[in-house]
Amino acid sequence: MTVDNPDYRDSGLRFPDEFVLGSATAAYQIEGAVDEDGRGASIWDTFSHTPGAVQNGDTGDVADDHYHRLESDLDLIASLGLDAYRFSIAWPRIQPTGRGPANPAGLAFYKRLVDGLLQRGVTPVATLYHWDLPQALEDEGGWRNRQTAYAFADYARIVGGALGDRVAVWTTLNEPWCSAFLGHGSGEHAPGWQDNAEALTAAHHLNLAHGLGVSALREVISATAQISVTHNLHVIRGDAESVRRIEAVGNRIFTGPMLHGAYPADLLADTLPLTDWSFVKPGDLELIHQPIDVLGINYYNTTLVGPAAGAASRASAFPGTDDIPRLDQPGPFTEMDWNIEPSGLLQLLAATHAEFPDLPLMITESGAAFDDVATVDDHGVSRVHDADRVDYLRRHFTAAHRALQAGIDLRGYFVWSLMDNFEWAYGYSKRFGIVRVDYETQERTLKDSALWYRELIAERRIP
Ligand code: FCB
Repeated sequence: MTVDNPDYRDSGLRFPDEFVLGSATAAYQIEGAVDEDGRGASIWDTFSHTPGAVQNGDTGDVADDHYHRLESDLDLIASLGLDAYRFSIAWPRIQPTGRGPANPAGLAFYKRLVDGLLQRGVTPVATLYHWDLPQALEDEGGWRNRQTAYAFADYARIVGGALGDRVAVWTTLNEPWCSAFLGHGSGEHAPGWQDNAEALTAAHHLNLAHGLGVSALREVISATAQISVTHNLHVIRGDAESVRRIEAVGNRIFTGPMLHGAYPADLLADTLPLTDWSFVKPGDLELIHQPIDVLGINYYNTTLVGPAAGAASRASAFPGTDDIPRLDQPGPFTEMDWNIEPSGLLQLLAATHAEFPDLPLMITESGAAFDDVATVDDHGVSRVHDADRVDYLRRHFTAAHRALQAGIDLRGYFVWSLMDNFEWAYGYSKRFGIVRVDYETQERTLKDSALWYRELIAERRIP
């Protein structure tokens, strides 16, 4: 047993039995079957079919073909011994145009998924919105249109009513920062807008959707089910003023209204050149500020910034901060060129716990893309010796364990991702799975990281 290594490479650390060891996916990234059983188009269908938007012209049309392989994928989940599985529900399968009655075939798919998990002793954790907005709503203004927040609440009520007795944890939104700012600022994600004012408008409407969604869910789900939201809270390091500005528009723009009931004053001041915030209507903050049971955190890497240089403001993923230089950081790096920095996870958990001491935390995503090599061993068995991913997971589970030791109310850790999948603007070029997917044959192969994780779950101890 090794503990307290400065590089976070500990082994032998024990996790309590109630600590949830899971893995995560999202609908558009794995399901395929994009025009089956009444599913409508989403903004990611449109975006991925737009020339030049996604690397190699990849789309989610087939992805991991999970929609047709549900039973065997459920068996795969069970074979790893996962305590819980985090998946997302495709809004356009439930309401093909984003409004109106539920499509029974869409609901039936997720009922089979949830029941299949429960039959196998795996706890279902469902995200309502992981970026696949029905295209029909985008045509009416998408997240730039306030009405989309109300449509989201109707959708939440439908799904909560149908599955609310069986899903343990409901997450309203996954990473609204990405929806708002990659979708409307930098334009790297669907729907591909590049406009800082629209991006900030979208952020507010996503906040409103969260609040209305929480209230709608509470009306229909069982009393024991929990409600959460997942944020990719950024760990920003550097000079204090730059850190303050980026944290304002990167993190506090969401946690402020959702968890404190107000937009931070410094955020409003910083962004005044971009918008007058007149899209915030009287009463909105009360609607947004709903109690939640657990806060989901996605963590991958850190960002290092330098003092602002005072240049003009372009549309960006952090509206109004493109005068702040992003600095190089020491490696190692993943295939995404993201730095591997487990201390950032501990820093983030500690800071979030300090700000919201009564709110339980859950790591809803952490993981790494590497350029895996598939081999065949002497017995003809497929192998992926992904030692770098095992090392990443070891170091980040060590950070999670240190958070527990520090008294932080951390409830679980979901590895991103269960299997290789459609990595948004990177298409299939980045592999995050602990299970390899051969996209020609759809064959699934447990990588060494899956075998390592299976042992961690079985023993409740870092191998
Ligand atoms: C997160 C997303 C998830 C996946 C990982 C790598 O931002 O929530 O779908 O793409 O990044």
